[in-house]
Amino acid sequence: MNNKRNISIIGGTGHVGFALGLIFSSKGFNVSLIDINQENIKKVNSGKAPFLEENSQTLLKRMIREKKIYATNELKDVRKSKYIVICIGTPVDKNLNPKLKNFINFFYLLKKFLRKDQIVIIRSSIYPGICDKIYEIIKSSCSNLSYCPERIVQSKAILELPKLPQLVSGKSRIAINESRNLFKKVCKKIIITEVIEAELVKLFSNAYRYINFSISNQFYMICQNLDLNFFKIRNIMKDGYMRNANIPLSGFTAGPCLLKDTMQLSSFYNHNFLLGHSAMNINEGIPKFIIKKLEKKFNLKKKVIGVLGLTFKSETDDIRDSLAIKLLKLLKSKKIKTLQSDEYFKTEKNIKKKDLVRKSDIIILATPHKAYKKLKIGKNKILVDIWGLIEKK
Ligand SMILES: NC(=O)c1ccc[n+]([C@@H]2O[C@H](COP(=O)([O-])OP(=O)(O)OC[C@H]3O[C@@H](n4cnc5c(N)ncnc54)[C@H](O)[C@@H]3O)[C@@H](O)[C@H]2O)c1
Repeated sequence: MNNKRNISIIGGTGHVGFALGLIFSSKGFNVSLIDINQENIKKVNSGKAPFLEENSQTLLKRMIREKKIYATNELKDVRKSKYIVICIGTPVDKNLNPKLKNFINFFYLLKKFLRKDQIVIIRSSIYPGICDKIYEIIKSSCSNLSYCPERIVQSKAILELPKLPQLVSGKSRIAINESRNLFKKVCKKIIITEVIEAELVKLFSNAYRYINFSISNQFYMICQNLDLNFFKIRNIMKDGYMRNANIPLSGFTAGPCLLKDTMQLSSFYNHNFLLGHSAMNINEGIPKFIIKKLEKKFNLKKKVIGVLGLTFKSETDDIRDSLAIKLLKLLKSKKIKTLQSDEYFKTEKNIKKKDLVRKSDIIILATPHKAYKKLKIGKNKILVDIWGLIEKK
């Protein structure tokens, strides 16, 4: 028997699945977080959030106490649920083509446990057309397939999700109605779309953001080559001139979503997504650009370079696809002495930020954690501050 109050989340101890599971459980649903990551399963069941997610720790403890949520590696537990939400990763390979095999194969496994009255909801960001393929795989067991992409910004899901309009698309009227009713419990506005529209809205949104950041990164590089201050020029651009109000800051544009989804879109468009490729060259090229600029001025073999911040963005412990890590690797491959520090990502190689500043000749501010804003960096040190966090003042 399916229970309408039961939800299974596959990839439930990952970034998207964990937060979503907590949100549903806080609305009275019984949530099983199904995952293959044993370490995260253990953490969740002992009431410990597996990574930084704002407001998750207290909520998790309460939901575990109230027996509204648990984590498991048993896929067969989906039998207990009316709703099955898929949040597993959709990576690209080293040639930046989507790795579809694992994602698609998963549905052959899932199919064995499906029944006609269940609702399968894909939440991952997918290569356009994948929903149709998956529908063909599972339809003889269950034809209620929806695509409802996640649109939160990482680590703020619990705060953001209730405020964002939810896209709902599906392969059957039942799938659409059921998914709409489900998501209505956790957010105010629902937008019904075609499946292909929802797939493209998700990828276009991430590609748009990725390209937008690359514009400022390109401007930053131009300014650096002219020995000019991009942050000053950016401020003048914005001063009383509303058309420029939204120009982003430059920075290390990285993480598990923006580049990956831009490349999924490009692959879907037969690699003719020229803007996407230019943005990738600019954003991914920033670490090399910084090193080259420094090499022109200094003999880096005689310097110690401190990399301040390792995570892919500020106030997170997530280093997936971090450009700070790419920078560190590049420096090490050139046999340059490096030091590293981070406020949230822990490794024994890290040292304290103040020690890093003291011991380094050159400091590269790679992640703009708030804790670095007030760092005192002496005039005798060289600071590379692509975020304008410290120079800005
Ligand atoms: N991270 C974000 O902020 C964000 C935002 C919007 C959309 N997305 C999309 O959501 C999807 C998930 O991203 P994420 O950041 O949560 O990834 P993640 O790696 O943090 O989580 C994925 C989880 O799936 C689990 N998993 C993988 N294969 C599995 C299987 N066969 N069975 C059960 N569990 C399995 C992994 O162990 C992991 O815990 C991706 O498509 C991503 O693009 C992510």
